[in-house]
Amino acid sequence: MLQRASELADIIKKSTKIHIVTHIDADGITAGAIASETLRRLGKEFTIECIKQLDEVIINKLLTEQHELVWFTDLGSGISTQYPEIRKIITDHHECPADSDASFHLNPHLFGRDGSYELSGAGATYLVSIAISQKNKDLAGLAIVGAIGDLQDRRFCELRGMNAEIVKDGVDVGVLQAVKDIRYFGKETRPLAKLLQYASDPLIPGVSGREDACVAFLQELKIPLKEGDSWRTWVDLCKEEKRKIISGIIQMLLSKGFGYQAAARVLGESYLLNKEEEGTELHEAKEYATLLNSTARYGEYEVGLQVCLGDRGKWLKEALNLLSGHRHNLVEGLQFAKEEKIQKRTYLQFFHAGDGIRDTIIGIVTNMMLNTEDVDKELPLIGFALTENGDVKVSARAAQSLVDRGLDLAVALTRAAKELNGIGGGHNIAAGATIPKGKEEEFLQLVEREIKLQIIP
Ligand code: C5P
Ligand code: C5P
Ligand code: ZN
Repeated sequence: MLQRASELADIIKKSTKIHIVTHIDADGITAGAIASETLRRLGKEFTIECIKQLDEVIINKLLTEQHELVWFTDLGSGISTQYPEIRKIITDHHECPADSDASFHLNPHLFGRDGSYELSGAGATYLVSIAISQKNKDLAGLAIVGAIGDLQDRRFCELRGMNAEIVKDGVDVGVLQAVKDIRYFGKETRPLAKLLQYASDPLIPGVSGREDACVAFLQELKIPLKEGDSWRTWVDLCKEEKRKIISGIIQMLLSKGFGYQAAARVLGESYLLNKEEEGTELHEAKEYATLLNSTARYGEYEVGLQVCLGDRGKWLKEALNLLSGHRHNLVEGLQFAKEEKIQKRTYLQFFHAGDGIRDTIIGIVTNMMLNTEDVDKELPLIGFALTENGDVKVSARAAQSLVDRGLDLAVALTRAAKELNGIGGGHNIAAGATIPKGKEEEFLQLVEREIKLQIIP
């Protein structure tokens, strides 16, 4: 992979003007930021755009624009052997056919690595960046925010593979820290009770989802919720208070019969960006990634990009505004999905949000739904949402246990979408597609047929 990275680096060095095309999620924005900063430091001219998916419209636009070189980050693996007219390099981590190998294509799957947890789009881009100059190791923090944004720590409750090497780079140059801590979201900025209320992996039985129960749980442990006028957050607690809460949660899980494996998931590795201030949305990687997801998924990629590139003034302020909208949309979206009711079939379960949930956040909501208490983890979950141009966006998510039994959602969705003239792709554990409206039932049948073939009973 490092050899391939330096081949891509050579192509970049020989080019004068480069157009970056990246994805709208946190991994895409950080990948785009790493690529931009790398090119800026090299003194190259560049432009950048953020897209939902690499469809025909975008390809046709790129074909007419005739860029000297296009750098696809966090996407592009699906077209690596097509469109020779587009001179390109690709740093991506989505599943791709083995015959898509090419000298300008860097993807962990081409090197026997798993792109759902060993390396992200930002990570692949980072490898090229440090192949250009070792001085770019200070960009390791962004690469890790990208990996965490794609939930690459989820499988082992920590980053592994190439991701762990990137963490090491970041620690070596002083930009990153990895600490063992509680894994819940919002340690730096969420009031304590909220941290527990939204806890989903693992759920805290009888506590998650219920604000009054969270407050009671903390009061029982004699943990003050406030300090003066302000709500305390996880990082405000002393060691002993943290220990009490963690062991309280673990005891609760074990006493309700959740087993050691679930209980062990309370703890994991957290990644901190040393140059950022503690108690802000940028200090811990999960929160940073969520801040970025609040921008490009709402058409405001410039905001996220500028924050990644170092702005802590007007762009950060704008990002924080967008964050409160995003949080609101996720809470509403989850509520909406719950009311829609999930329909179970033999090999999958699904819900249709219509235009009730934005197509750019249906993936996040589907993921959150799968984590809720009453959803069957033995079946993959598919969420549908309408897009602005009247197509249907599909998001599919599954539990790791199904992947261990052979499930590959990327293969299933790619094939099913293709049959209906749509496009799909992704990872074994999480995939997406866009299909024509009215084809949902046909699509579900095709996906079920694929899943049936994949899963070992
Ligand atoms: O676009 P893409 O690669 O960037 O996004 C990866 C997706 O896979 C994310 O939406 C993330 O939520 C999902 N994922 C997951 N569980 C994992 C790994 C990734 O749901 N273990
Ligand atoms: O959109 P969603 O978050 O559900 O996507 C899950 C995964 O599938 C992401 O990694 C995304 O990049 C990928 N995907 C894809 N092709 C599509 C739609 C989604 O590769 N047409
Ligand atoms: Zn990605």
